[in-house]
Amino acid sequence: MENKKNTNSGEVRLATYDNIKGIQKLYSMFYFMYTDALKKYIDKEMVFVYEKDNEIIGCVTYGMRKDKILMLVVNKKYRGQGIGKELFKISTETSNINELKIMATMSPVSSIPFWKKMGFEETSIIEKIH
Ligand SMILES: CC(C)(COP(=O)(O)OP(=O)(O)OC[C@H]1O[C@@H](n2cnc3c(N)ncnc32)[C@H](O)[C@@H]1OP(=O)(O)O)[C@@H](O)C(=O)NCCC(=O)NCCS
Repeated sequence: MENKKNTNSGEVRLATYDNIKGIQKLYSMFYFMYTDALKKYIDKEMVFVYEKDNEIIGCVTYGMRKDKILMLVVNKKYRGQGIGKELFKISTETSNINELKIMATMSPVSSIPFWKKMGFEETSIIEKIH
């Protein structure tokens, strides 16, 4: 699959095994994604990275059934430059279904304005899960 795009002098493309450490570092603010699990997603072309100057500064992974986004993260230093939007766009373009669903319970409240910009509607907020 050929999925390359240039934005802000960086590049959006499918992740490779060489990117695993960079992706794990980026995702580590939320949880540790095990290498074997990440490899499975990469094998199935479900992980896209935004790379700039040999650094992974953004990454999106969608679920095995391609019906939701598992994780979308942009390095704090580079937020607000359209990188999240670019990663979201490519994940919708490459998924099997027309409409991706978000696991709302997994999204931090701070990311709600972003999802609204991406066309989602707020239904309810669960602040704590026990
Ligand atoms: C959410 C996140 C991925 C957004 O990435 P980003 O690169 O900063 O987003 P973009 O610059 O592409 O913003 C796209 C649009 O959303 C808007 N937006 C993004 N974050 C916003 C915020 N906190 N408040 C208001 N608007 C916001 C931008 O202004 C932009 O609007 P525009 O299209 O009218 O210009 C990033 O903030 C992040 O990594 N957050 C931590 C991880 C997270 O919460 N992920 C989501 C759950 S998995």
